[in-house]
Amino acid sequence: MRFQAPRGTADVVPADSFKWQRIESVFREVVRLYGYYELRTPTFEDTELFTRTAGETSDIVTKQMYTFMDKGDRSITLKPEGTAPAMRALLEHNLCPTGAVARLSYVTPIFRYERPQKGRLREAHQVGFELVGSSSPLADAEVIEITMKFYQELGIAGTVAMINSLGRESCRQQFREAILTSTAAYLADQPLEFQEKVRKNPLRLLDSKDPSAQEAIKSVPPITNYLEGESRARFDKIQELLTDANVPYQLSPEVVRGLDYYTETVFEVQSTSLGAQSALCGGGRYDNLIAELGGPATPSVGVAMGIERAIIVMDDAGLWPNGNEPDVFVIQATDQAQTECQRLARNLRQSGLVTLFDIDSRSMKSQLRQADKSGAPIALILGEDELAKGTVQVKRLGSSEQFEIPISDVVAKVLELK
Ligand code: HAM
Repeated sequence: MRFQAPRGTADVVPADSFKWQRIESVFREVVRLYGYYELRTPTFEDTELFTRTAGETSDIVTKQMYTFMDKGDRSITLKPEGTAPAMRALLEHNLCPTGAVARLSYVTPIFRYERPQKGRLREAHQVGFELVGSSSPLADAEVIEITMKFYQELGIAGTVAMINSLGRESCRQQFREAILTSTAAYLADQPLEFQEKVRKNPLRLLDSKDPSAQEAIKSVPPITNYLEGESRARFDKIQELLTDANVPYQLSPEVVRGLDYYTETVFEVQSTSLGAQSALCGGGRYDNLIAELGGPATPSVGVAMGIERAIIVMDDAGLWPNGNEPDVFVIQATDQAQTECQRLARNLRQSGLVTLFDIDSRSMKSQLRQADKSGAPIALILGEDELAKGTVQVKRLGSSEQFEIPISDVVAKVLELK
């Protein structure tokens, strides 16, 4: 019997792992500049952590959670997202005492029982960060700015932050009523269960992919029409700050997000390379979440970016500078040269050069073939003649150029040519 990775999961094979490492290291470097430090939380949590925060009407809670009873009869859920666990840990370790601000980042798998397709997995991975304890619009703008900087550093061009505001509770209440009124005729024809769900949270109708729902919501006025006083001022200020920071953004009333904990600002970045799963990332403000978890009222804002989706976009645009190619391949032309070849390889590595050789000392022809296949730009050839003279043949792979230099000059030469 041969096994395969479970549906909706994927192995990251060595030829691709450098992409993950690059995304994670660019992420860590970008957030470090703004003072975010990593928090790691467990793979599973008490189920209630998510039902309370993601919302009882969200698809994540109603359809997608990997929930099971453990042997001690506890209801456990594999984390479907990283924000609620991060806030649970923040409270547990008092990472944000009253009046303070905490900046946290994470790299995490998430588990959602979805129908797998391009860019949509059952085990997916996110990099994310949270700015906890500030209600300033500067906090919202900082999170959006960092997100855009991350994509910029990865070389993903043309991204635009799609921003919207859900306002405070009283604005959302008016908006919810407006949704129900303007889609009443459509809703009346829907199954009772669906009507019930939409009544509980009319915003859910706005993420529906169903074409008739899409048609019905065209008559819904934009939520920003309902923004009152402070919410309007905050949203205006955020736009001003983004303009000043040269962050490309567009007002996108259709962005309402699929998790229930958002208040005020929400945003996404999309890419056309992703097809139906167009969101590269999503985030926003969640001023009530910490209080829902039993903590003090703590205004917070954050975002999570899908790693697999960033890879799809970067693959499509050919944005990987280099992969696992070695810098140099050492070829042993005769058996007597083996020890010297090993010494040479050690020296090259000492200088930070990725160095390969044929561990099975096959024929010269086979070694040359392997050197070509390895993607190294340079092969170094050492045989009896070179040993006697204290030299090395430098061969530029992919061309006929070959020349001889003293072995003592080799490291400098490879560094120059690679
Ligand atoms: P989310 O929009 O559910 O938000 O997920 C954020 C990103 O994770 C998505 O835009 C997408 O790139 C990626 N993602 C989500 N589900 C999948 C999947 N099944 N397959 C592949 N990629 C996926 C959150 O998770 C919030 N916790 C974000 C946040 C942080 N809000 C505030 N702070």
